[in-house]
Amino acid sequence: MNKELVIVIDFGGQYNQLVARRVRECSVYCEIYSYKTDLNKIRAMKPKGIILTGGPSSCYEEGAATCSPELFELGIPVLGLCYGAQLMNHVLGGKVERAAVREYGKTEVEVDASSPLFAGVSPKTVCWMSHFDYISRMAPGFEAVAVTANCPVAACQCPDRQLYAIQFHPEVLHTVEGSKMLYNFVRGICGCSGDWRMDSFVGEQVAAIREKVGNGRVLCALSGGVDSSVAAVLLSKAVGEQLTCVFVDHGLLRKNEGDEVEAVFGPQGNYHLNFIRVNAQERFYGKLAGVWEPEKKRKIIGEEFIRVFEEEAKKIGRVDFLVQGTIYPDVVESGLGGESAVIKSHHNVGGLPDCVDFREIIEPLRNLFKDEVRKVGLELGIPEHLVFRQPFPGPGLGVRIIGEVTAEKVKIVQDADAIYREEIARAGLDRDISQYFAALTNMRSVGVMGDERTYDYAVALRAVNTIDFMTAESTQIPWEVLQKVTSRIINEVSHVNRVLYDLTSKPPGTIEFE
Ligand code: XMP
Repeated sequence: MNKELVIVIDFGGQYNQLVARRVRECSVYCEIYSYKTDLNKIRAMKPKGIILTGGPSSCYEEGAATCSPELFELGIPVLGLCYGAQLMNHVLGGKVERAAVREYGKTEVEVDASSPLFAGVSPKTVCWMSHFDYISRMAPGFEAVAVTANCPVAACQCPDRQLYAIQFHPEVLHTVEGSKMLYNFVRGICGCSGDWRMDSFVGEQVAAIREKVGNGRVLCALSGGVDSSVAAVLLSKAVGEQLTCVFVDHGLLRKNEGDEVEAVFGPQGNYHLNFIRVNAQERFYGKLAGVWEPEKKRKIIGEEFIRVFEEEAKKIGRVDFLVQGTIYPDVVESGLGGESAVIKSHHNVGGLPDCVDFREIIEPLRNLFKDEVRKVGLELGIPEHLVFRQPFPGPGLGVRIIGEVTAEKVKIVQDADAIYREEIARAGLDRDISQYFAALTNMRSVGVMGDERTYDYAVALRAVNTIDFMTAESTQIPWEVLQKVTSRIINEVSHVNRVLYDLTSKPPGTIEFE
């Protein structure tokens, strides 16, 4: 696939993936690379454009993330964003200094609409600012093309050298016309025609997989989540009967989920995946008995998953290829792409390859963002309720039961969660909330039911809205809905006498409780 490529160079900014996603929304393929990437490597990729992201440092400080001045002499258009904008000016002979006050939040910016960056943008538009430092003197040859009340260089350019710099963040939604600015850069200034499309992706992948696999045998771990489902169906389309899918029910799935996955992908469903379901609940509960510590639980669940999978793989015999539903954020977050840090160890990335004897790994979704995976899922005819499923962690309810996991606690949280989901759907809110679930706190407290004293568990309800799951806001669910869910949980789920709603955003909380 010889696609037009734009490179996003990551300086550790929190919006690095958003920049890449916005570029893809312009139908232009792009990848994220660390600022430490060798210039020759970048040159060899022949990108049509380069975007420098924001970052936490001050570019004039010693040891700050930087880039070579040669990056700006490749004859490739470069767009610097926030830190990237400052760095471009700093490296090319301008001056960046600390401002007296931090400029933060939605800010009105006046743009020069004659700049190719701002073609079609309103002369006064709202942007998202977040910076301490500012460009106090532009690099020679640059001219300012946007200002705000506090920022004399909100954007500048040197069109002769195809260099552009924006102090604010066009990639975040608060910058009302930000997508247009990025479109102007990649489609206008870089001259990309927009050849990145999901309908052609399916055809190209099917052909590429067929060629790679030949008549080899393929094994896939299917979880029923969006990524592994899309990967499995794509593979099945490409190689049909040569594929076997193993679905491990670890007993930490949502209520009835195992049966629902089997109904779609099993022998009674529409696909021919050679679907094998392994009911391994008891094994997992046994291994988790007496274990409290979150990372230890994750590790046990991950390892046991691998053991079960390994045993099934041995039964199948020879395996030539192993399929994984890795997607692009997994690649970036596991440190292979950009600069981000790991907070929790997610077991579904890696691990499996070591346990199965196979020739090669196939990761057909490795370059896709989640919304692109969903588009592929729809192209493949996978039911919408699966394609738009909210994320569910690999260790499942194991990280939604605080403290020790037991079969009894799993049942409590499954029942409470099912009620919560039912009521959210009934209120028509299911598509508006990014992720929501019930968790079982390890707290027991005194209550009264009928005339009896109770001493039972508290269930916590969580709902968040987020674009990238790296930051999130707690959702404002209407009070009546919360009350309905609460009373149903108390009435219908034994051993629960209290329901709490978690208002914490991320940060400082995480989305899951463990
Ligand atoms: P946190 O809790 O880190 O969650 O704010 C961010 C997103 O990641 C999911 N998550 C996991 N996914 N294995 C996974 O596959 C895990 O161990 C894991 N922990 C959290 C979480 O559901 C949310 O969507």
